[in-house]
Amino acid sequence: MRDPNPKAVLLRDYTPPAFLIDSVDLDVDVREKQATIRSRLAVRRNPAAKDAAQPLVLDGRHLELVSVAIDGRALAPGEYTVDEDHLRIAEAPAAFTLEAVVRFDPWANTRLEGFYASKDGLFTQCEAQGFRCITYFIDRPDVMSRYTVTLHAGRERFPHLLANGNQVAKGEEDGERHWAKWEDPFPKPSYLFAMVAAKLDLLEEGFVTRSGRKALLQVYVEPGKIDQAGFAMHALKKAMRWDEAVFGLELDLERFMIVAVGDFNMGAMENKGLNIFNTKYILARPDTATDYDYYGIDKVVAHEYFHNWTGNRVTCRDWFQLTLKEGLTVFRDQEYSADEYSRAVARIQDVRDLRAYQFPEDAGPMAHPVRPDSYVEINNFYTATVYEKGAEVIRMIYTLLGREPFRKGMDLYFERHDGQAVTCDDFTQAMQDASGVDLSGLRRWYSRAGTPRVTARGVYDEAAQAFTLTVGQSLGQGGEPLHIPLAVGLVGPDGVDIPLRLEGDAAASGTTRVLDLREAEQQFRFVEVTARPVPSLLRGFSAPVVLDGGLTDADLTHLMTHDSDPFNRWEAGQVLATRIILAGVEALKAGKPMEVPTAYVEAVGRILASASRDPAFAAECLALPDEAILAEQMEVADPDAIHEARRRLKREIAERYRTRFEGAFRHFTVTGPYSPDANAAGRRSLRNASLGYLMAIDDSTARALTFLEYRRAENMTDTMAALECLANSAGAERERALGMFYEKWKDEALVVDKWFRAQATSDLPKTLDRVKSLLAHPAFDLRNPNRARAVLHAFAGTAVHFHAADGEGYRFVAEQVVALDRINPQIASRLARAFDRWKKYDAGRQAHARGALESIRSAEGLSSDVGEVVGRALG
Ligand code: PHE
Ligand code: ZN
Repeated sequence: MRDPNPKAVLLRDYTPPAFLIDSVDLDVDVREKQATIRSRLAVRRNPAAKDAAQPLVLDGRHLELVSVAIDGRALAPGEYTVDEDHLRIAEAPAAFTLEAVVRFDPWANTRLEGFYASKDGLFTQCEAQGFRCITYFIDRPDVMSRYTVTLHAGRERFPHLLANGNQVAKGEEDGERHWAKWEDPFPKPSYLFAMVAAKLDLLEEGFVTRSGRKALLQVYVEPGKIDQAGFAMHALKKAMRWDEAVFGLELDLERFMIVAVGDFNMGAMENKGLNIFNTKYILARPDTATDYDYYGIDKVVAHEYFHNWTGNRVTCRDWFQLTLKEGLTVFRDQEYSADEYSRAVARIQDVRDLRAYQFPEDAGPMAHPVRPDSYVEINNFYTATVYEKGAEVIRMIYTLLGREPFRKGMDLYFERHDGQAVTCDDFTQAMQDASGVDLSGLRRWYSRAGTPRVTARGVYDEAAQAFTLTVGQSLGQGGEPLHIPLAVGLVGPDGVDIPLRLEGDAAASGTTRVLDLREAEQQFRFVEVTARPVPSLLRGFSAPVVLDGGLTDADLTHLMTHDSDPFNRWEAGQVLATRIILAGVEALKAGKPMEVPTAYVEAVGRILASASRDPAFAAECLALPDEAILAEQMEVADPDAIHEARRRLKREIAERYRTRFEGAFRHFTVTGPYSPDANAAGRRSLRNASLGYLMAIDDSTARALTFLEYRRAENMTDTMAALECLANSAGAERERALGMFYEKWKDEALVVDKWFRAQATSDLPKTLDRVKSLLAHPAFDLRNPNRARAVLHAFAGTAVHFHAADGEGYRFVAEQVVALDRINPQIASRLARAFDRWKKYDAGRQAHARGALESIRSAEGLSSDVGEVVGRALG
């Protein structure tokens, strides 16, 4: 048995590895229900190790050890020990060859970590600690080795045999079998290892890098789906050009492969030269994928490609440094998306996600700094904090340094650390050294959990023509203040930005200024301010904080209409809508009518009237704050009241502007062949936002229009917009549309996921019953992560039904966590995270949630993944 209460791993306990492994030679033999892996490792003692007499300890899990030898001599049983997690050899020479033979059944591997079977063959996933499920190894990222891999398998079932690097030989074997040998010229950590033995279709293209190097780009997909691979290939080429142009970074390989697999725990994986992707982030055709799917594919293909430099060429010393590669690579994919689509819309969407996922995480039991200082199960730390808040930290560095110095910092980072496994401090040091900007206060962001609050109050002195801004920060845990870049502007009464001159400046310059907030409280005095301004604070969301700007509704309406910063124009509308909904919640609870201020409704009317200037941006402005984000703003969250108040606000806007929404729906059509570009997608997004408002009225006219749209739609974006509206409506059209949809798409797995998701996230009463019956649907499969997520994680993300006052939602999800944990602990643990915010609810709900959490905790054989999440939630 594995330890039921595994100990936490601590950052401060880091020590260099006792041994290094210079090369790895793997021979992989695939047979019916069995893989046999023969490894030959060139091992030597690490000169940097603390103690020169340590035993050799190799990681290994779920492996059957057949034999082990040192320098060609088989070890006798007394010379080594094996337990659930390790192979230990007490007496090891200074340098030697270690050979081991292990066996296991990849078809029995439902954890999808290590080497596992999916429909079309065998695939690997090694980050963070999957390589130890393939062979015994020192499975940590600061052990970097050169890999050679030979794969043997049946030719018919596994025509493609792939591994990292270049194919150097191949051949036929007895019994309809074949083999292929691969060599990766770059030393790499084990988490970047990959191999594939599968039957796949291939799309390939040549590429010439900026410096003239030729490369072969390949996208492998399920047989018959080559018509869904083109956009991923297109995205890959765009991303390669972008990285050359913006960061001067080129592909360093002769061949770059992407393989799509239908069973995958995450989005995708940046294995050196052989990226493995969830099909969700590769496959797309206009009739199967939405604009948002296309956007996601573009972003994730770019993200994984960008890792080749930020992650692979320079990697992490240990897993506490995960944000070194993830925060930086997310920042890079965000910038790529901003350049390829609309910068303002991209920023709005990123911030909305940050608030919906990262802020609650940072306020709950799983809160941790972007560089955590302890973990039990590293898989639990692939979080919104490490990724998205980590990207915000990089963005703050970018904001403080400016574009050119930031680029110099990146260049210096690569110059110093190419080929190394390094820390977040190494990164910030390179940034500081290249720019001369003091990053001491910024570095503190790496070690502090929680979302800082920033309070700002402005005072206008008419006589002195001065505007004084007093700004404070707090994180409620002591420690020195953070360095917070606060981008501000001053909007005049005429709606025009006032040129900014801080007291002491020689002259006014620009209309947006990044203030350096480094103290707990600071004052900034702007002079030559000729009229009382409205301060536009935290422009572009220049820091991941909660802002209390002290603005009145009138100030916000002013910003909503005039702010030159599009993010803050959007933000003002969100803050106003939040105030209205939260006041509505109180009114509803007191049995009073909910009030919707005319000024706000009129400002919404102005958005609609000027929508054609930027339809995508208008659609963002029309989207009301998510229920999850609203819940975070209440002392005790009331999901039913939030849902009702939000629904009423939406309906009131819809009724007021019904004709305009109908007009927008008719006007913003897109003609010509489908394209997911920002312009076309933006028009569809406004059009479908309008449909959403009309369906908030949910009368027979609206339903008929939506059903007609459902049948007329030629692309998946419009189809899903209509279907999602109908899934939230009790009309007869609902079942008709859902039935038609399933019939049409039952053989397209990613589309069937959409069908499940639309039902699992429905607002209608009885959604839980529906979800329970979906589990019995022949197409449901708990072992497929995408399918499980489409039903279970989707349901657990709903505000109203998961948090149902009778506790049924909690009980149901708890049962599913336990069932899923037996199959795939990583996916189960993600589902368990739905309980994170249970203490934000009333006593009745809390009692139900506690009971549900305790029932998970007491389940037999619980994984350390779920154990850590539930333990922290209850602890
Ligand atoms: N490293 C991957 C990425 O962010 C994510 C991942 C982590 C995938 C762990 C699989 C397993 O690009
Ligand atoms: Zn990543």
